[in-house]
Amino acid sequence: MKVSCANFDRTGDIMIIPVFKDFDKAPNNTTVGLGRGPSIAVKAAAASDSISGKVGESLSVWTKGCTVIFIGVGEKGKLSHKVARDTGAKCLASLSKDLGNNIVIRFTSGWSTENMTAFAEGMMLRDYQFDKYQKKDEENDHDGWTLECQAHDRHLEVLSESIEKASLVTTGVHLSRDLANEPANRLYPEEFGRRAIEWAEGKDNVEVEVWDYARLQKEGMHAVIAVGKGSIRKPCMVFFRLNPNVQSDEQVPCIVGKGITFDTGGISIKPSQGMWDMKYDMHGSATVFGLFQALWATGYEGRVDGITCMAENMPSAEAYRPGDVIDSYSGKTIEIFSTDAEGRNVLSDGLWKAAELNPSYIIDLATLTGACVVALGQEASGLWSNDDKLRESIRQAGNSVDELAWPMPLLPAFEKEMTSSKFADVRNGGKGRYGGANTAAAFLKQFIQDREDENGDKSEIPWAHLDIAGTAWNVDTNACVAHGGTGVHVRTLHHLITQG
Ligand code: BES
Ligand code: MN
Ligand code: ZN
Repeated sequence: MKVSCANFDRTGDIMIIPVFKDFDKAPNNTTVGLGRGPSIAVKAAAASDSISGKVGESLSVWTKGCTVIFIGVGEKGKLSHKVARDTGAKCLASLSKDLGNNIVIRFTSGWSTENMTAFAEGMMLRDYQFDKYQKKDEENDHDGWTLECQAHDRHLEVLSESIEKASLVTTGVHLSRDLANEPANRLYPEEFGRRAIEWAEGKDNVEVEVWDYARLQKEGMHAVIAVGKGSIRKPCMVFFRLNPNVQSDEQVPCIVGKGITFDTGGISIKPSQGMWDMKYDMHGSATVFGLFQALWATGYEGRVDGITCMAENMPSAEAYRPGDVIDSYSGKTIEIFSTDAEGRNVLSDGLWKAAELNPSYIIDLATLTGACVVALGQEASGLWSNDDKLRESIRQAGNSVDELAWPMPLLPAFEKEMTSSKFADVRNGGKGRYGGANTAAAFLKQFIQDREDENGDKSEIPWAHLDIAGTAWNVDTNACVAHGGTGVHVRTLHHLITQG
């Protein structure tokens, strides 16, 4: 979608007029640029009882050359960025391509830059298809929308800047969704690595490095290897670096993603019902990749590290088994209770490695547990952290972009449970099903290294874990996503890193 800003002048093929509750006549500037007849019709429609301005209401008025659509956004004083964004998204979804390609939206009066941006952002986010494996229907072929956001002159400078930024961040969300939506026969660990390398080509402030199977063996990434070795698609690790040559003596964030390109469960095989959704089990890695695109596109000048742990979890003669005691990069051994608790295994290597990059903080994202979906539903990701400040700043970043991250407990009892293996240092499953999302987080915490300050005092590196099992795909209540991968937390982390 091509987006621009201007004052009230052009009308476009489609003209959207958002209206507040109980408006009684067409807001000023509604009809600028329309002919006399159309103006009269549009004003009459606005003054009628056919629309009151409640959230979700709309009224279309056809005029020759321009269809005018009033969209209700509710009470003026109560408009939130969430309502503005969701209304924008639903509005875009409702538009017929038969009406033409050029959309004009008129923010007449009573609009903050933040809400105008959110409305436009909702339209941009929702303008997404993943149809690369479907034949194009020539008749419905559409050149793509253009969007002109119109507002008073005094808003235009700030508005263009913030809308431009939202459109660049959206490229990261859409990249993340593209990766998530790819089926597992087409996007396997090394293909993810290849796409990351391809993405980095020609960008002079990014670096991507892929550790293939041989390199993983040389480095001792035994947990990633154990999970991936049951598949003919071998595992790999992908390192993303933005602005690698700046802030070389400063600590910067490191974001780690679970990248299971397909999770059959392995020898602890999953039931076949719903298994198709396990192509999304790499959404943590898709969020990391999309985040780097968003940061790069918006010209972020700081250094940031990313690590994605890629593997396909398959049953085979070569697969790891329940009861196995595997090594990990940390040197700790892991007793496998379920080969289906594979995400935490691959993350154990990624998290241990992250500490070697001397990060200011580590955040991991993973579609880690069904238990998290039981606990929180699909409205919020689970958020665990060993650091109050980091937890709070992630929570707030999530709130400000309306991608909720809900604090969950990291209790000592869960850690005790996960370190109670009779045969290894750590066990990869809890003793029962209770608190399954919490025990998973407690497992991950065993792989967060300490660091020393100038006085030689040791403390754990600030770390947070986001369980996105419920928020990463098919979230019916997410107005910005029709179906499939959601790109969740690209916007949260972009906000945290650039403004947090
Ligand atoms: N990828 C799954 C978690 C998952 C399941 C996410 C369903 C979304 C929907 C993960 O690898 C897994 O299988 N976790 C197990 C852990 C258990 C074996 C301790 C689970 O949640 O059942
Ligand atoms: Mn699993
Ligand atoms: Zn999984």
